[in-house]
Amino acid sequence: MPVISASDLKPFVQAILLGAAVPPHKAAIATESLVASNLRGVDSHGIQLLTFYVDQLLAGEMDPQADGRVVSESGCCLLFDGQNALGQWVAEQCCGHAIRLAKQHGMGLVTARESNHFGAAAWWAQKMRDAGQIGIVFCNASPIVPPWQGKQGRLGTNPISMAVPGPWLLDMATTTVAAGKVFKAFMNRQPEIPYGWALDSDGVPTTGTEAAYLGMLMPLGGYKGSGLAMLVEILCSTLSGGVMPNEVSGIRFRGKPNRVSQMYMAIDVARFMPVEEFTERMEHLVGLMKSTPPAAGYDEVLVAGDPEWRTEAERKVRGIPIPDGNWESLCKTAARVGVAPPAVPSGPLVG
Ligand SMILES: NC(=O)c1ccc[n+]([C@@H]2O[C@H](COP(=O)([O-])OP(=O)(O)OC[C@H]3O[C@@H](n4cnc5c(N)ncnc54)[C@H](O)[C@@H]3O)[C@@H](O)[C@H]2O)c1
Repeated sequence: MPVISASDLKPFVQAILLGAAVPPHKAAIATESLVASNLRGVDSHGIQLLTFYVDQLLAGEMDPQADGRVVSESGCCLLFDGQNALGQWVAEQCCGHAIRLAKQHGMGLVTARESNHFGAAAWWAQKMRDAGQIGIVFCNASPIVPPWQGKQGRLGTNPISMAVPGPWLLDMATTTVAAGKVFKAFMNRQPEIPYGWALDSDGVPTTGTEAAYLGMLMPLGGYKGSGLAMLVEILCSTLSGGVMPNEVSGIRFRGKPNRVSQMYMAIDVARFMPVEEFTERMEHLVGLMKSTPPAAGYDEVLVAGDPEWRTEAERKVRGIPIPDGNWESLCKTAARVGVAPPAVPSGPLVG
């Protein structure tokens, strides 16, 4: 399995995006966010997505030249039309607007339509966190999730992320796992996935990777996951005037623009208390969770963000392992846009 440092991976990713006619400033933003996801161990939303993005770009389903535009702004509320631009570019602008509005009004709420896939929601929530704010990000996605008690896809894996000043960062699909984890298993020829991740195309729970790839994702925690996915859908597509989820495209629904909707909410902590005080209170709250005696089979209690921060610290030193199937797919994608892959070692960079 190739293992590559983030600094060696970035120029390769950037070159692939440039080769697919993405302007350099937009390619740089997408590159940073994708590689950051691999560094955090969220491989489902890292460079694995490039094959899909390049497919869309070369097929003319996404417009790398489009910039998106502000449709309206009123008080702390802003409506954005992504105009089918690169999802990461839309997200970058929407975060900027949400931060600006929160500084001005105490809170900023931006909802965007006609966007594209933006990768991991956490990258964008953290942009608002880095401005001393609470950042909340939602997006809808292609309809590969049946509502609870249904057997046909109607909703997306609609993620929820919230980042705060302090040691907690939630980033989760409203399905048991993100679809990218099933795609990763499929691309790397793993025959089985854990029970509870997916349903086959008849809506029957399956552990077969291929049946899951062709089937659907399981709502998180039954009807409660369907409720959360609807909450995301309402603040994304419904409020933005975007398309309903049955019209959203994706890896499984090609031949048309993606048309996803997104929501970015920033809350200015300083309107309530100094950011330092809030951070201390977060540390106290997290400490309280971690003081819980571990249940049988566990040696500690974790909070959201812990697994990814630990992986990030390790991968910054030892490099990012890229499963053979993913590397093969990335190299094929690179070849399509005339980019040669870098030579990579196949073991940890540091022992
Ligand atoms: N752009 C899109 O269309 C889209 C759609 C769906 C998901 N996603 C992305 O997929 C990624 C993966 O989502 P997922 O739901 O598979 O993630 P996951 O199940 O791996 O993790 C979800 C959350 O649980 C936390 N967590 C994990 N183990 C824990 C533990 N033992 N104790 C406490 N907390 C723990 C993690 O820190 C994380 O915040 C996310 O980055 C999400 O934004 C994107």
